[in-house]
Amino acid sequence: MKLLLAYFSATGNTAQIANTVKEQLTELNVEIDEFNMTSYSDRQKNINLDPYDAVIFGFPVYDNRAPRLAREWLQTLNGKGKKCATFFTYGGIRVHPSHYSTRQILEKQNFEVVSSAEFLGAHTFNLAGWEAMENRPAPSDFDVAREYALKTYKKFINKDSRRLGELEKGMLNEEQLDELENSKFKIIKQFPTRDGKECSMCRTCEEQCPTQAMNAEEGSANKDDCIVCLRCVANCPDKVLKINDLSKIFKMLLQRDNTTKELLAKKTSKIYL
Ligand SMILES: Cc1cc2nc3c(=O)[nH]c(=O)nc-3n(C[C@H](O)[C@H](O)[C@H](O)COP(=O)(O)O)c2cc1C
Ligand code: SF4
Ligand code: SF4
Repeated sequence: MKLLLAYFSATGNTAQIANTVKEQLTELNVEIDEFNMTSYSDRQKNINLDPYDAVIFGFPVYDNRAPRLAREWLQTLNGKGKKCATFFTYGGIRVHPSHYSTRQILEKQNFEVVSSAEFLGAHTFNLAGWEAMENRPAPSDFDVAREYALKTYKKFINKDSRRLGELEKGMLNEEQLDELENSKFKIIKQFPTRDGKECSMCRTCEEQCPTQAMNAEEGSANKDDCIVCLRCVANCPDKVLKINDLSKIFKMLLQRDNTTKELLAKKTSKIYL
């Protein structure tokens, strides 16, 4: 069996889970190719799925779904009836309906989804004052990733494997989810910027930006293209890129969900079969 492991990871959580899944499958002598679709140029490549028996897709949760650019990329694929599995990393706020909505897309593209999983990861907006799921993924999350790899592989090789069960639809319809996706742009007052500071002009921010939104020379992001993934902020070696402080919004979310950061941290990674 030959597998493709395709994932998007702006700040590394999803990549860490993908690595663990790959390690576990390699131990079983499964042949596995990796496609990291984070960079803009890699997403322009045509992916030929013909050599693969099955595919594993991994994405961060952005506003309760896979990121829009990932959803659009999935819509370019033809599954030709192949089995696939999905997994998501999220910052502990909300994960549903990521599994459900991505399954809908994959089934339309003629894939059969056999399993899914969710893993906790430090929230990207911790780079802007949040304190959600710090130090995750942790060893307990990686244990679940290994179990997910084993159980998914069993479903890939077993012709009569049970269909993936019902997934949570969440409370919002697609239109409301689109609105939510756009609403973050109202709270970001300052997209990643160097704010006039000097830097070593290494151009990492520009080269690694998944949407070509960052201009290293100007030290600022183009608002129309920036998806606020904060890859540039996380990876700037001089630590000079910033966005506005979002800590008040984190406190509001904790109040809305009647929770605390300590209670959030008790959440555990999960597998759906
Ligand atoms: C634009 C954006 C939206 C996000 N939306 C959610 C969300 O709806 N629920 C949640 O729990 N975490 C959310 N997160 C946090 C990420 O899902 C989480 O940090 C993820 O592990 C990041 O993966 P990566 O490090 O592979 O990029 C969001 C992050 C970003 C940048
Ligand atoms: S990554 Fe940081 S140091 Fe490098 S060019 Fe961008 S702002 Fe400057
Ligand atoms: S400019 Fe925007 S899209 Fe590009 S890496 Fe930075 S936050 Fe992400």
